[in-house]
Amino acid sequence: MKPHTLATVTTALALAACSHTPGAGDASAHSHGAAPEVDARAEVVFPESMRAHTLSNMRDHLKALAEIQAALAEGRYDVASSVAEQRLGMSSLKSHGAHDVARYMPVGMQAAGEAMHRSASRFAIEAQNSAATGDLKPAVHALAQVTSTCVACHAGYRLR
Ligand code: HEC
Repeated sequence: MKPHTLATVTTALALAACSHTPGAGDASAHSHGAAPEVDARAEVVFPESMRAHTLSNMRDHLKALAEIQAALAEGRYDVASSVAEQRLGMSSLKSHGAHDVARYMPVGMQAAGEAMHRSASRFAIEAQNSAATGDLKPAVHALAQVTSTCVACHAGYRLR
């Protein structure tokens, strides 16, 4: 990863962390400092078919996270690992048509997508380690990192 793309991911992560800032006791009053809430996400234009395809993939990403969590809770580490690798990890790149879509993405968004695929593949390995060691914690931590990559991209970008 190039240094400037890493910086963009870091900025997106910082934005994501910011969204956890507690409001003034009123959920609708969420604001950053005194300024009213503005949607600062960069608007990204995809061709319509790609937009629909991407959002459909997104819904599958969320479904995959639910399946992974259920599998972990049931001690089915192999299932958790393969769902992560096939649906979110580096192995999912081809089925997502990532190469076609990537050219419509700003570099920061590309980096955020790459971070998601890499972190999911790392989780897939940790889940296999859990099967061997019986220690779930490193896998849960790796899964939290996957979820953080979703949060980071969502904090920075929206589709038109
Ligand atoms: C590279 C950027 C990126 C990553 C990484 C990413 N998303 Fe998204 N996702 C988006 C964008 C952009 C939208 C559209 C948001 C908008 O236009 O308001 C979206 C929308 C969604 C939606 C709504 C789908 C719909 O039908 O409207 C879901 C659910 C979702 N993402 C889940 C996830 C999950 C879960 C992950 C992580 C495993 C994830 N996304 C990772 C960029 C990303």
